Amino acid sequence: MPELELRALHANHKHAVESVLRGARVFREEEIRTALDVFEEALRPYEDYHMIGAFLEGSLGGYACYGPTPMTDGCWHLYWIAVHQAFQRRGIAHALMERVLADCSAHKVRLLTLEASGDAPAAPARAFYEAVGFREEARVRDFYRPGDDVVHYVVRFPPAS
Ligand SMILES: CC(C)(COP(=O)(O)OP(=O)(O)OC[C@H]1O[C@@H](n2cnc3c(N)ncnc32)[C@H](O)[C@@H]1OP(=O)(O)O)[C@@H](O)C(=O)NCCC(=O)NCCS
Repeated sequence: MPELELRALHANHKHAVESVLRGARVFREEEIRTALDVFEEALRPYEDYHMIGAFLEGSLGGYACYGPTPMTDGCWHLYWIAVHQAFQRRGIAHALMERVLADCSAHKVRLLTLEASGDAPAAPARAFYEAVGFREEARVRDFYRPGDDVVHYVVRFPPAS
């Protein structure tokens, strides 16, 4: 596999981010639009979001967007993580998460949270979250739509190895 490079994302990566979101093959149109809105918001200088891209030979293969949760003391949220299907299962999301967790540790984060769908298409993502140390702490049944729960995952720091 070509060498993986992790670096910050900028405004000119918007099309590449869209292509990753579409290429991940699980997101609905509304979810892609929301992710791109968050991407734009994250670039505003007064916003406290962090975005890292995973590049292979200059092409964006995946990215993660995360940052502090307002009105909490030491709680951060992982807003988005996605890898283009062409690059999945090669350790890209693991590499991104390693960087996210290291950044959280450096900022003395207590809890890193995320929300995932409980439906079948999100099963690979849930397997990934559990593989990198997230634990399910709550579930609201039928949250997204009937039969589709929201699952609240948490990493408590220091994360279990
Ligand atoms: C979840 C996702 C980010 C993982 O990215 P990735 O780069 O393929 O992940 P990695 O290669 O680093 O890690 C793979 C691990 O994740 C889990 N995993 C990933 N895909 C899986 C699948 N189809 N079935 C079961 N486990 C899976 C496994 O633990 C796997 O480890 P293994 O390959 O040793 O079995 C990627 O599948 C993705 O972008 N999915 C679509 C977007 C998405 O659902 N995002 C979350 C929104 S809630």
